[in-house]
Amino acid sequence: MSSKVVHVAIIGAGGVGKCFINQLSAFAAKSSVTLKTILLSRSKTALVSRDYSGINLSTWESDFASSAVATPAFPAETLDFLKSAPGPVILVDNTSNESVAAAYPQFLNAGIHIVTPNKKGFSSGIQLWNDIFAAAKNGGNPNGGYVFHEASCGAGLPVISTIKELVETGDVIKKIEGVFSGTMSFLFNNYAPLDGKGTMGFADAVKFAKDEGYTEPDPRDDLNGADVARKLTILARLSGLQVEDITKFPIQSLVPADLESAKDGDEYLAKLPGHKSNDDIAEKKAAAEAQGGVIRYVGSIDFSAGSEVVDKVSVGLRTFDKTSPIAGLQGADNIISITTERYNKTPLVIQGAGAGGDVTAMGVLGDLIKVLQRI
Ligand SMILES: NC(=O)c1ccc[n+]([C@@H]2O[C@H](COP(=O)([O-])OP(=O)(O)OC[C@H]3O[C@@H](n4cnc5c(N)ncnc54)[C@H](OP(=O)(O)O)[C@@H]3O)[C@@H](O)[C@H]2O)c1
Ligand SMILES: *[C@@H]1O[C@H](CO)[C@@H](O)[C@H](O)[C@H]1NC(C)=O
Ligand SMILES: *[C@@H]1O[C@H](CO)[C@@H](O)[C@H](O)[C@H]1NC(C)=O
Ligand SMILES: *[C@@H]1O[C@H](CO)[C@@H](O)[C@H](O)[C@H]1NC(C)=O
Repeated sequence: MSSKVVHVAIIGAGGVGKCFINQLSAFAAKSSVTLKTILLSRSKTALVSRDYSGINLSTWESDFASSAVATPAFPAETLDFLKSAPGPVILVDNTSNESVAAAYPQFLNAGIHIVTPNKKGFSSGIQLWNDIFAAAKNGGNPNGGYVFHEASCGAGLPVISTIKELVETGDVIKKIEGVFSGTMSFLFNNYAPLDGKGTMGFADAVKFAKDEGYTEPDPRDDLNGADVARKLTILARLSGLQVEDITKFPIQSLVPADLESAKDGDEYLAKLPGHKSNDDIAEKKAAAEAQGGVIRYVGSIDFSAGSEVVDKVSVGLRTFDKTSPIAGLQGADNIISITTERYNKTPLVIQGAGAGGDVTAMGVLGDLIKVLQRI
């Protein structure tokens, strides 16, 4: 008797690590379901198993390197190929591409399941969010595919599933606060350490974070706060707050206005030393120190504050007492503190590595397993 077959299509199969595919192969070897990877694509080239027999995952890297097959046009050709598969299909979107995310509703409507670490689908305009969940089985469409995006906030940390479960079981979220960016965590844990001995200037701390591999190739992509704002948007929506998009609440960018136009990350890094914005940050650090605290770059949603999104959601620098768990974070870790009606006196706290190939891939594979358990 042959076991159930599920097809997997991975778009965005480039990047540094091979973590997801390695974890997938190990999982497939012991799973009672037969998993066949039928598409592995980067933006230009792909491996495509036209006959749906499956790509050999033990040789995918060299096969990919020598592949001259053009990536199927997206979304139309990709959708047609996946729709014709002889069984269920799970699409793994491993890009950070907004137009890929914009097509989720079409895939879900066709019964294709989606698992992804890509924040774009869930943190762009609220219309896309509504369209995605209207098309999804776990949103209201009985014929739709499932969609899960655990790794879109905090990588493998169980942030999204925890908030969903709190809300579904009738708890009420009062406040979510934390460090949502591995880059910002590393930066401020070094720039303003708990022992008060931070000797690096802000520009040096940014350069150190970049050299240690903790920033995007252009550090401004982390320092402008947009990544944190996207994650907060996702958590706010899950908690019942209708955030239209990331322009609807204050985001403190750490990129000075006149360096936004620097042509690339290198020019920005070259011009940052000696910039007066460093003095402003140093003043905030000193003021925090004087009152026994440290500065940290955090995101916060306070449901009791004001009546509008603009009052409740914010992203930026804040001072924390040295005894607070947010101040005591290590390395590039994330921490998310959730206060609810039930977790009232002491918040529920989730802490650990919030970025990196292996933990991100784990979040995605965990979602894939959730789909398998449901179909
Ligand atoms: N939540 C977290 O803590 C966390 C941590 C790490 C990563 N992530 C997320 O994980 C995802 C992957 O990260 P990344 O840095 O590797 O993203 P990325 O820089 O966008 O690269 C991913 C790949 O997507 C490919 N790609 C883009 N558009 C495509 C298309 N239409 N069809 C096929 N391939 C396409 C690119 O191909 P080429 O190579 O050909 O350019 C690239 O290989 C992102 O969404 C990121 O935000 C989340
Ligand atoms: C998916 O994205 C993660 C995080 O950027 C990356 O480490 C991993 O290599 C990607 N997976 C594949 C199959 O490219
Ligand atoms: C996959 O490739 C490996 C290494 O070449 C080979 O030993 C194995 O038989 C292949 N598996 C299939 C199913 O073709
Ligand atoms: C995003 O995907 C679209 C559709 O495939 C593609 O045309 C575009 O080049 C991609 N953008 C990036 C930055 O990879």
